[in-house]
Amino acid sequence: MATIKFFLVFFVTMSMMVSMSLAMPSLKVGFYQSTCPSVETIVRNTVNRAVSSNPGLAAGPHQNAFSMTALSGYGCDASILLDSTPGNQAERDNLANKPSLRGFEVIFEAKAELEAQCPQTLSCADIVAFAARDSAYKVGGISYMVPSGRRDGRVSREDEATQNLPPPTFNAQQLEERFAQKGLGLDEMVTLSGAHSIGRSNCSSFSNRLYNFNETNPQDPSIDPIFARDLKTKCPQNANNGNDPTVPLDVLTPYRLDNKYYKNLKKHRGLLTSDQSLLSSPSTAGIVRNNARHVQAWAYKFAAAMVKMGYIEVLTGSQGEIRKNCRFVN
Ligand code: HEM
Repeated sequence: MATIKFFLVFFVTMSMMVSMSLAMPSLKVGFYQSTCPSVETIVRNTVNRAVSSNPGLAAGPHQNAFSMTALSGYGCDASILLDSTPGNQAERDNLANKPSLRGFEVIFEAKAELEAQCPQTLSCADIVAFAARDSAYKVGGISYMVPSGRRDGRVSREDEATQNLPPPTFNAQQLEERFAQKGLGLDEMVTLSGAHSIGRSNCSSFSNRLYNFNETNPQDPSIDPIFARDLKTKCPQNANNGNDPTVPLDVLTPYRLDNKYYKNLKKHRGLLTSDQSLLSSPSTAGIVRNNARHVQAWAYKFAAAMVKMGYIEVLTGSQGEIRKNCRFVN
């Protein structure tokens, strides 16, 4: 079984790499083999330590930093890690990311250890990509190889987050357009949304569905009424910065990266409009049902889409730089 799994993962990763090498910038598996062979082990150990010391938050602390950044398509140059500077508000400080994005400390810790061993060798962008892979394995048993050799960007602008991150109120068609802009198709979009099988959301990201959906329906008719009743006990009517609790994105298995997310959608227990609309829309409903039925097929597609996402707007060769500290440009 393990051998079959290995070959499938190998095959998926290799075929992705072959097809992408025609059109994509050059990244390669084992990029640091000769310059700093222990990089991937160091990142993996840091991620594992972070998850083990935070069992209750297994999904969150690292998942978010990598997923919502690298994976939402504007983090492949690690610009999301940069601090704001006088006169420039960074992406990280956009309201869409704050306080939602977590887990930066895991990336910073790995970088500090790597700088001590191999100064200015491993990019912060690659650390994010490796940490993403290691987290997916740790909380979901999903494994894949990460082509590396990314370089770090030197610019971080607050409005990048607004332009790139789809809001949770988007429907399937709006999401499709946003993903297409990054070269990701419908199946990849639905498959990657399965990352919402872990982690949490602030109430403010979906409380319109509970209290003020539209003029005729205060409550979103696409939400299971029992689920909504339960959410109302946890989420105040006017969630705001001072009072904005969090609830799990996946009520069934909040700490496990699996296909329960799709099973929730079928029961109208998707938390965000962007989640539930994947079942409401005829163009994506079939993909949701398939992913709910075939966990292994979903996991392989997820791995392949993660690899593909790692190529979005990537810097390579002599572009950008290798930051000494992920929070600042050199
Ligand atoms: C389809 C478009 C997407 C939308 C609209 C979206 C939106 C959101 C929102 C609003 C939250 C909760 C933030 C908060 O209120 O604190 C969230 C959390 C999360 N998202 Fe997404 N997301 C999308 C796609 C993705 C993708 C593609 C991934 C990764 C592959 C991902 C991974 C995560 C994770 C892991 C969390 C939990 C974070 C935590 O526990 O701190 N999301 N997302």
